[in-house]
Amino acid sequence: MAETVVKSPWELDRDHVIHPYTNFLHFHKEGTTIFTRAEGHHIEDIDGNRYLDGMAGLWCVNIGHGNRELADYIGRQAAELAYFNTFENAGSVPAAQLAAKLAELAPGDLNHTFFGTGGSMANDTAIKLVHYYFNLLGKPRKKKIISRELGYHGSTYLAHTLTGITWSQIGFDLVPDLVHYVTAPYAYRNGVGMTDSEFCDMLITELEQKILDLDPEHVACFIAEPIMGAGGVIVPPQGYQRRTWEICQKYDVLYISDEVVTAFGRLGHMVTSQDLFGFQPDILVMAKGISSGYVPLGATMVSDRMYEVLKTPKDANPSLSHGFTYSGHPVACAAGVKNIDIMERMDLCGNVRRLGPYFESQLQTLSAYEIVGDVRGSHYMMCIELVRDKAGRTPFPEEADVSKRVYLHCKQRGLMIRPIGSLCVFSPPLTFDKDAIDETIHIVKQSLEATISDLKREGYV
Ligand SMILES: Cc1ncc(COP(=O)(O)O)c(C=O)c1O
Repeated sequence: MAETVVKSPWELDRDHVIHPYTNFLHFHKEGTTIFTRAEGHHIEDIDGNRYLDGMAGLWCVNIGHGNRELADYIGRQAAELAYFNTFENAGSVPAAQLAAKLAELAPGDLNHTFFGTGGSMANDTAIKLVHYYFNLLGKPRKKKIISRELGYHGSTYLAHTLTGITWSQIGFDLVPDLVHYVTAPYAYRNGVGMTDSEFCDMLITELEQKILDLDPEHVACFIAEPIMGAGGVIVPPQGYQRRTWEICQKYDVLYISDEVVTAFGRLGHMVTSQDLFGFQPDILVMAKGISSGYVPLGATMVSDRMYEVLKTPKDANPSLSHGFTYSGHPVACAAGVKNIDIMERMDLCGNVRRLGPYFESQLQTLSAYEIVGDVRGSHYMMCIELVRDKAGRTPFPEEADVSKRVYLHCKQRGLMIRPIGSLCVFSPPLTFDKDAIDETIHIVKQSLEATISDLKREGYV
């Protein structure tokens, strides 16, 4: 009788799972690390190795791992009412509670929420609602979208088109003639030789000119993250967010603030557009930290002004024909309600406001290393950019795989960070305390030293 071969989870994964953003050159050989449990700031793999989670999963496990209170609440909701559809004539207590809580947290008249299962879907919804809104207003030509180079807005067909990261678009098609991109507010690369305010003026002039070139009658919206995340943790120059919003106001261009990463405490505030940057967007997009990643959830919030139009359809179809099976999922919304409650009781925004500047200053000490060209970000949303030559800001060649090297050295020493191109990104759980910050910095220092000696040996520096 033939012996049944039992494959390990590692083999099953390698043979059957298609991972997001996988480099297949490495994957088939190396497979992936299978994680089995997590608690507090730490995650553990199938072989029992423990790592400090410097990425909060993927910018999302804001309250930390293994929170019993949240897990129990989710479990109770699943037992009580796991699911019923929310189409028109049905609703659930958690969705109602969460939408009301979000209206309290969001600035001004952002009082209405459409739920989905993540950031990409929430951005898709935002664009569909913008187009629908202008159709209802009798402005069907107002459809074009302005986004930014290096903006990250997700991975559905539409969200990927909104995304301005060109390397991620290689080989894929984009929705044609819909999205137009302006320069990223990336001072380290795009603002060389300019003061902060000159750079800001340049970006604002460019945005206004782009609207005029496309024709304001054809431009529907501008989409932007207050601080850019996956595109490189890019902090715009002072005043940029408010000034871009003012330009949009001037030309009746709706402003979509993509706070998928920045909302729910990463910068020390539940919502940042108003609190930190002084403007109220027409649409606010949230995901990730809204449920601390315990279950998938995304939210698209619209203002009263937009809602008044959306709720008054004028054409042959009187209903809003947009929705997903899992819109307003009771378990996901319950997770959102309890997660926010826990965040408030633990004063996690306060923790980030208190320790964020310390984290920033500790990371700044890494500038002393010859391959660290820039250290940037804010509070618990930080990155370092690695360069071959500091004075010339020369990047490493792609094949040097430089951030992956730092990542692997960190991993070996028990720390998970996120490598993206020439960047190492840090986005820890908001529960990170001083000891966790110190341990992170200690490991990153050792890892940078190990990386530099590898690179020297191989002639890269
Ligand atoms: C700013 C921003 N928007 C949207 C998304 C997409 O979210 P999701 O991966 O949940 O679809 C992300 C994901 O990283 C993001 O960072």
